[in-house]
Amino acid sequence: MPDYQNILVETKEGVGIIRFNRPKALNALSPQLMKETVMALFAFDAQDEIGAILITGSDKAFAAGADIKEMSTASVIDMLKSDFIPTFAKIREIKKPIIAAVSGWCLGGGNELAMSCDMVVASETAKFGQPEINLGVIPGAGGTQRLTKAVGKAIAMEMVLNNRTLTAQEALEYGLVNYVLPIEEYFEKAFSLAQKIAHRAPLAVQLGKEAVNKAFETFLAEGLEDELRSFYLLFASEDQKEGMGAFIEKRKAEWKGR
Ligand code: CAA
Repeated sequence: MPDYQNILVETKEGVGIIRFNRPKALNALSPQLMKETVMALFAFDAQDEIGAILITGSDKAFAAGADIKEMSTASVIDMLKSDFIPTFAKIREIKKPIIAAVSGWCLGGGNELAMSCDMVVASETAKFGQPEINLGVIPGAGGTQRLTKAVGKAIAMEMVLNNRTLTAQEALEYGLVNYVLPIEEYFEKAFSLAQKIAHRAPLAVQLGKEAVNKAFETFLAEGLEDELRSFYLLFASEDQKEGMGAFIEKRKAEWKGR
């Protein structure tokens, strides 16, 4: 395993776990941290025994955004030449489901990263925001787009233009997160969600994720066409025969990933 400096990585019961580990900077997403995160994501994606990936930070901070100290003196040319923002886009290439377990600050690039995941489980202390306006910039890694699709135009405008921060409960109401739990329980909930999905039919999970994501990236007709193609494609898999056979025979299915 590579010698990561900014993240901790472990595997447990079919789940690959990535934990941001820059406590002194509230897990600010430096280019190096993002590079390591994407490397770990691709490594887990390539392992057959991993069925889902969990990304988390600390109880105090999921991530307080991109590293302002590393960006503060950058010119537009530096930003254009940097690999930093493109590393966020790499997350979309991961085939396995990614669940974010979020507590404390989830700001700027941190919120953009959480929204790049497939599901979010939050602690009651989580705070979601896009404070870039305070820095004289706007979100640069999907914050205006994914946020608007998730919470709607009115709330997104307020967050992006006036630094409105959402409580965990508000994030739940607006559809940004799946669950909100007490701080002692959010990680376990996120882990059990990941673990359950990790033991489902792998090909159907992969294509289901792809199909749901298409809803955000394509017009309806194109999305429906892709969904149908993937649905038909799964009838070529052993898991489809096993899953439907097991239902009819009233037994538990055994997934092969084939
Ligand atoms: N980048 C770099 N360092 C950061 C950071 C960030 N995004 N957020 C916090 N830190 C550092 C602080 O500088 C401080 O370090 P020092 O002890 O060396 O001074 C340490 O983390 C602790 O932070 P605070 O003392 O500020 O902690 P607090 O509890 O008083 O405040 C906070 C917490 C409200 C989250 C505050 O730290 C804050 O506002 N952080 C910046 C949030 C932000 O603006 N994020 C957007 C970044 S831009 C972006 O993400 C662009 C994009 O779209 C990709």
